[in-house]
Amino acid sequence: MTGLPILEITGLSKSYGAIRAVDGVDLQVHRGEICGLIGPNGSGKSTFFDCTSGLARPNAGSVRLDGQDITGWSLNRIAREGRMLRSFQKTVTFGALDIEENLVIAGQMFTFPSVASTFGLGARSRARVDGLRQRARELIRLSGLWDVKTQPAGNLSGGQQKLIQFASMLMPEPKLILLDEPMAGINPKLIERVVEAIRYANEQLGVSFLVIEHNIDVITSICQRVAVLDQGRKLAEGTPAEIMRNQAVREAYLGG
Ligand SMILES: Nc1ncnc2c1ncn2[C@@H]1O[C@H](COP(=O)(O)OP(=O)(O)O)[C@@H](O)[C@H]1O
Ligand SMILES: [Mg+2]
Repeated sequence: MTGLPILEITGLSKSYGAIRAVDGVDLQVHRGEICGLIGPNGSGKSTFFDCTSGLARPNAGSVRLDGQDITGWSLNRIAREGRMLRSFQKTVTFGALDIEENLVIAGQMFTFPSVASTFGLGARSRARVDGLRQRARELIRLSGLWDVKTQPAGNLSGGQQKLIQFASMLMPEPKLILLDEPMAGINPKLIERVVEAIRYANEQLGVSFLVIEHNIDVITSICQRVAVLDQGRKLAEGTPAEIMRNQAVREAYLGG
């Protein structure tokens, strides 16, 4: 955890009409860390992600990624660059394609600069496709999806599709991933799988995370640090244990 934070947000604000969805929030994600972001519904968590990932433009504040000011960059520009990726609550896979094809496409979208190389013309791009296939297979094995890898992704369960989506995000070797409610709507058995996948990516691949999640057990088990939003403002920040015994947090979020 040396040097600059991987993500440094300062004074971030975003209003929709009279609603101050995010109101002057400072937040840092340290290198190598899994940081949680929690708060009641409507407290501004997704809007915070929108402004950080380029989906929405903040009214004020700055976003620095890996030391570089990326405030106001578009979602496409940030995603294409591949250093910071963001998941959405809704899962999207190519249903007719198998898992390996899904992952290779995800890798191609980031690592292929030109149309010619996207279509695999030339020896160099063939070598890159081979590299992507190898990485895809490794991630499929790690995600516990090896047994179903030849099935069309559309035939798999919602939880398995979440795992595919997660593995897809690891294809371009990002430094930071923003996860918006990764456990929403998946069964308890698969929750453990997704937790393991996040831990593996963090510990073995060196990916840092900022995670919005309502499942407090998951937050407590994977996060070193947690920030709490309430009505667009940062209410508290600390270790999961500190957050759980913080009286203001209990009142706002945990119901007293
Ligand atoms: N695109 C939008 N247009 C108008 N209001 C929005 C938009 N996005 C979010 N909001 C409002 O901003 C507030 C924060 O919402 P959101 O960031 O989705 O909270 P959370 O993710 O914590 O549930 C809510 O009052 C919500 O209605
Ligand atoms: Mg939300």
